[in-house]
Amino acid sequence: MTKENLIPTASSETTSQSGGAGAESPSKNIKRRSFLKGLGVTGAALSAGSLLAEASQSSAIVTIGDVAILRFLAAAEILETDLWQQYNELGGIPDSEVPGGTGNRRYTNAVKKLDADMDQYIHDNTEDEMTHEVFINAYLVSKGAEPVSLEQFRNLPSSQATGAQNIGRLTNIMQLTVDTTWWTRYRSRTGNPDLGDTFAQAVPTLAVGQHTAIPRTNADLQDLTFLQAIANTAGFHFATIEQGGTSLYPKLAQRVTGLEVLRIVLSIGGTEIMHFQTWADKAGNAPPIADAVDPVTGVHVTFPDLNSPPFGGEDFQTNLIMPEPTAFLSRNLPACSIIRPTQTRGAAMGALKALTADGLFIGQSKEFFTFMHTLAVEADLAVRE
Ligand SMILES: [Fe+2]
Ligand SMILES: [Fe+2]
Repeated sequence: MTKENLIPTASSETTSQSGGAGAESPSKNIKRRSFLKGLGVTGAALSAGSLLAEASQSSAIVTIGDVAILRFLAAAEILETDLWQQYNELGGIPDSEVPGGTGNRRYTNAVKKLDADMDQYIHDNTEDEMTHEVFINAYLVSKGAEPVSLEQFRNLPSSQATGAQNIGRLTNIMQLTVDTTWWTRYRSRTGNPDLGDTFAQAVPTLAVGQHTAIPRTNADLQDLTFLQAIANTAGFHFATIEQGGTSLYPKLAQRVTGLEVLRIVLSIGGTEIMHFQTWADKAGNAPPIADAVDPVTGVHVTFPDLNSPPFGGEDFQTNLIMPEPTAFLSRNLPACSIIRPTQTRGAAMGALKALTADGLFIGQSKEFFTFMHTLAVEADLAVRE
C-alpha cells in the first residue's frame, strides 16, 4: 500500500481536531471495507472504518498500519487500565479521578512499606492508563477509524476482599507469574536482549508458580508475612507491567508513518517510562521475606535482601535505579544508557505473549485470545511508509 492510496482528496477537517470528526457516512464506510478486502485485510478487528486518511497536512497522515498500531495500543491500554483499577480499589486512592472501590487499609499499609506515597502513585498510574485508553480511542474515532472495546470479555472475577468492587474484570492479578528480569537487564553494562542476551531474575520464586498481587479475600489479610508477600508481589509486578510499556512504544514507533501518530506514540510512551522508573525504585524497598506461604495454594515465595550476598553489587543493589549504559545496536559501538529492548519486529505479539505468560489472562475466553491475537498480528504487519 502507498500513502497516496490512503489519502483521499476530500477532507481537510481532521488536522487539529481531537474528536468529533468521527461521523462517517455509510457509503464511505462501505468503500473502505471494499478497499480493505482488496488488501486482504479481514476480520472483525480491522473492518469498516479502520482505513482512514483524511489529511490536509503530511503530519496528519494516518495509514492502515498506523491504525493497526494504535488499535493494538488502545487494547493494551484498556488491559493496563483494568489491572491498575484493581490495584487502585484496594491499595490506591479511590476518588472522583479514579472511581471504584473503597480501599483496603491493611493491604494499603503493606504496600506502603515500599514507600509512604504508594497509594498516590497507584492512583496516578491508574488515571494515566485511563487517559491513554480514552485518548487513543478518541483519536481513532476522530480519524474515522474504529475504536477498540474489550467490554464483551469483561468476565473474570473480582477480589472478594473488602474494598474491591464486585464487577467483571479483563485481567487476573491473583495468579501471577512475575518476570523480574527487568531488574538485572537495566543494570547490565554489557547485555541487551536485542543482541540475544538473557538476564537473571531478581526474585526467582516469583517467576515460577502462581502468586496473588492483591488479597483475594479478607482471609489473605490475616497472616502478616503473607500479606507483605502479596504487597511485595504487587510492587514488582508494577514495574514488570510498566517496563513492558516502556519498550512497546519505542518498538512500535519505528513502524509508524504519520508524524502526528508518531507524536502520540512518543508522548504516551514517555509516561510509561516515568511509571517504570518510579516502580523500579519502589520495588527495591520491598521488605525482604525469607519465606511466605500462600495458605490457599501452598506456594512459597522468598523476597531476597538484594543488597546482601549472593545478591548485591551492580546487578542487584537497590539504590541503582537508573539504567546502566549497555551495548546498543552493535557491540562495536560505545555503551549507551538506553531503553531495552527496542527491536521492532514482532513487537505487538511479543507484548501479548509476555502479558499472557504473566498469568494476566488466566480464565479468559478463547474469543478474547483470538481478538487480541488478531490485533497483534495486524499491528506487526504495519510498516513505515
Ligand atoms: Fe499506558
Ligand atoms: Fe503504563
